[in-house]
Amino acid sequence: MKKITFGTPEEFVPSKFCDGFNYVETDIKYDVSKIKYKQTARRAVLEFPLDPDENIFGLGLMLHSVNHTHHKLCLRVNADPRGYSGDSHAPVPFFVTNKGYGVYVDTARDTIFNCGYVKAPALEEIIEKETKADHDTPAVATDELYKTKKTDVLSYLTVEIPAQGVDIYIIEGDTITDIVAKYNMLAGGGCDVPEWGLGTLYRCYSKYTGDQVMEVADYLKEHDLPVSIIGLEPGWQTHSYPCSFVWDKERYPEPQKVVDHLKAQGYHVNLWEHAFTSPNAPFYKEMRPYAADYEVWGGLVPDFSIKEASDMFADYHRENIISMGIDGFKLDECDNSDFTNHWSFPHCAEFPSGMDGEQYHNLFGTLYAKTMMKALDNKPTLSEVRNLGALAAPYPFVLYSDLYHPIEFMGALVSSGTSGLLWSPELRDAGSANELIRRLQMVVFSSQCLINAWYCEELPWKRYDCEDKVRELLKVRETLIPMLKVAFKKYHEKGIPPVRPIVMDYTNDPETYQVGDQYMFCEDLLVAPFIYWQEERHVYLPPEDEWVDYWTGEPVESGHFTVRTDNIPVYRRVRK
Ligand code: GAL
Repeated sequence: MKKITFGTPEEFVPSKFCDGFNYVETDIKYDVSKIKYKQTARRAVLEFPLDPDENIFGLGLMLHSVNHTHHKLCLRVNADPRGYSGDSHAPVPFFVTNKGYGVYVDTARDTIFNCGYVKAPALEEIIEKETKADHDTPAVATDELYKTKKTDVLSYLTVEIPAQGVDIYIIEGDTITDIVAKYNMLAGGGCDVPEWGLGTLYRCYSKYTGDQVMEVADYLKEHDLPVSIIGLEPGWQTHSYPCSFVWDKERYPEPQKVVDHLKAQGYHVNLWEHAFTSPNAPFYKEMRPYAADYEVWGGLVPDFSIKEASDMFADYHRENIISMGIDGFKLDECDNSDFTNHWSFPHCAEFPSGMDGEQYHNLFGTLYAKTMMKALDNKPTLSEVRNLGALAAPYPFVLYSDLYHPIEFMGALVSSGTSGLLWSPELRDAGSANELIRRLQMVVFSSQCLINAWYCEELPWKRYDCEDKVRELLKVRETLIPMLKVAFKKYHEKGIPPVRPIVMDYTNDPETYQVGDQYMFCEDLLVAPFIYWQEERHVYLPPEDEWVDYWTGEPVESGHFTVRTDNIPVYRRVRK
């Protein structure tokens, strides 16, 4: 791994806030003289030459593709990415290619990655190459007009950072899995997760009272539906937009009784919140000097990069909430919105640390997660958060969304592992039993098995006669926990993510480069979930290894084939 400094890097960068940051310089094969740097009036620009068959992965949680070759991604934190643009709950300025290297760009700026653009060649080259044909055939459809033209000329990955300079880290490895593992180790390793965190998390209807929460918890037990964590949504607080962080006495007259009841049944308890601090919060006044100059929903935006602010927030939570027996949190709304009522703070917001809103957006979720780990005294958890950024692997927080398109959820699941992130393709409601079961299949084979019924007054499967199937799947999840424990240990100690697009393990197989709907799960499983409207689907098993059907133990031929099954296709690799 090698760090290279260009120009004058900024003060507020992700590595500054990463406690486990562990850079050890080693020799690299990459010829760094190939990287060109220039400073334009607006940006620091880095140019990396690409081989014609070079493919680009990484760049964070991307819902629409895992392979970014020939795409322009303007990384920007956004809660409702509408297209394949770089908008994301969790963009990460780290890319990795199939040519044995990856690059981490240590910036908290909205950075543009142009993944394969061709520069104008010298005049002599043009003259020599000028096409022999005397005309070409015009396209008559926009698809045809703008489709990526395969070219054998040198293209570049250019990175545009709105700053006066930047540090980059070049990381090498044989496969993308090796490189990503080293990127995660640079941050201090993957998160440490307790066994209970790997069980099912059921989030209750927001308006439930404490009694109703206990009823649901009892029902799950009585009906042998294995759930390990109960999550409470906004209704536990007196005010939730912005947050008071105080139990609502009407819905929860005796909150400790509810927590004790859940705990006595073996559940762990998770509370929803966000950081925008209401005037009704007990520490509002003290927090004011440490908050941004813009508010959100009438609440303060605490600057978690300042020790006093982060300590105050953590101490309050530890002493008043965690002490009751709370094991984890859902840290909501710490991304940003540009399309849904623009509810967050603007890029020009000023934070007392000296950061601006653009930098804070890129660091918010990570700093929030860090603050809550302080509140928990680093007690292991598997919690949730809606934004993370660079160097986030050490935080035991899984990303989620308000979006619900199953293809986007699959995209997020597959891409998350390329950039030190975990993703939860949560189940909410569904339009049919088939949809519900297909969604739940993917949920069961993901890092966090989450049923987020925050707007469902009754258990989401109650509308359909499919509780037996739900039970069966939740029991499958239980059988996966030992395997997940081993996978998370590897994540923690070696940085190898538990969920990976198949290109990560099979980097030398070009057939894997476009596969965005299958993934490696734990050490050796390959999962190919169905989207609920599909009757059959295509699967690719790389011939580099042998495969058996996970459910039947029967050998399966490698290569491309089509499957039709009500079950979720899962294959176990047998290394050759
Ligand atoms: C959203 C969140 C949902 C739910 C809801 C409650 O922001 O994504 O999962 O928690 O808030 O208000």
